Amino acid sequence: MTNGEKKDHKIWIISLFPDFFKAFLETGLSGRALKGERESGLSVHLVQLRDYSSNSYKGVDDAPYGGGPGMVMRPDTLQAALINGVVGPGGYGPDWKEKLHVVFPGPRGRVWNQKNCQEFSQSAWGKNGHGKDLVFICGRYEGIDERFIQKYVDEQLSLGDYVLTGGELAVMAIIDSAIRFKPGVLGNRESFQKESFQGGLLEHPQYTRPRLFEGLEVPEVLLSGNHKKIEEFERFESIRVTQAERPDLLEDL
Ligand code: ADE
Repeated sequence: MTNGEKKDHKIWIISLFPDFFKAFLETGLSGRALKGERESGLSVHLVQLRDYSSNSYKGVDDAPYGGGPGMVMRPDTLQAALINGVVGPGGYGPDWKEKLHVVFPGPRGRVWNQKNCQEFSQSAWGKNGHGKDLVFICGRYEGIDERFIQKYVDEQLSLGDYVLTGGELAVMAIIDSAIRFKPGVLGNRESFQKESFQGGLLEHPQYTRPRLFEGLEVPEVLLSGNHKKIEEFERFESIRVTQAERPDLLEDL
């Protein structure tokens, strides 16, 4: 399916802590875009995992088979949240697997960077992408039962080689960075074309008023009005900063 003809894209988030997302969904650029403003065509739907527990004490996890520390999230509760909290209310019908892309953030996933962020954004919301609505599963405790991943997860994504206490922060980082590539979200600004990692380099340093700050001047060339010279300077600075801070990026060019 292409989504050229489809305007609205839903993002579902299954979490034990939906409150985590409050500020994110209400504040700043991400908040406006995710409320469907700025012609983003996006909306976010939070699903409380605990509501789909099958036991009287509302448990969603259990001890791991084989022993070991911590608890594991039960596959049946996750499945119930997906089917009854997303597929049902979203009206996706029996062929819902064709209409939803299920993402599970965790340390085992593909490591997130600006390149695969752009690809992810284009495949979800771009003209020739899969165009499916997104479902994010936020893990907690020691992880989630492997069989849920096997049956229902389409893609695993990692923020980096460290362990978070839960997937919520990862989901916010993934959504926040991905929506910036969706037309309409940043408006007409070309911001992301010049920012860090586009073209494989870090962005050049930026300056604003005052011209003199604690003995440091704004570089003269930026005040010259000579656009060619400014462009050359910024390109040079971009390479200099990348060389100094992230020389590994230059190796990949
Ligand atoms: N959940 C726990 N650790 C994570 C990581 N590194 N990336 C994404 N989600 C996670």
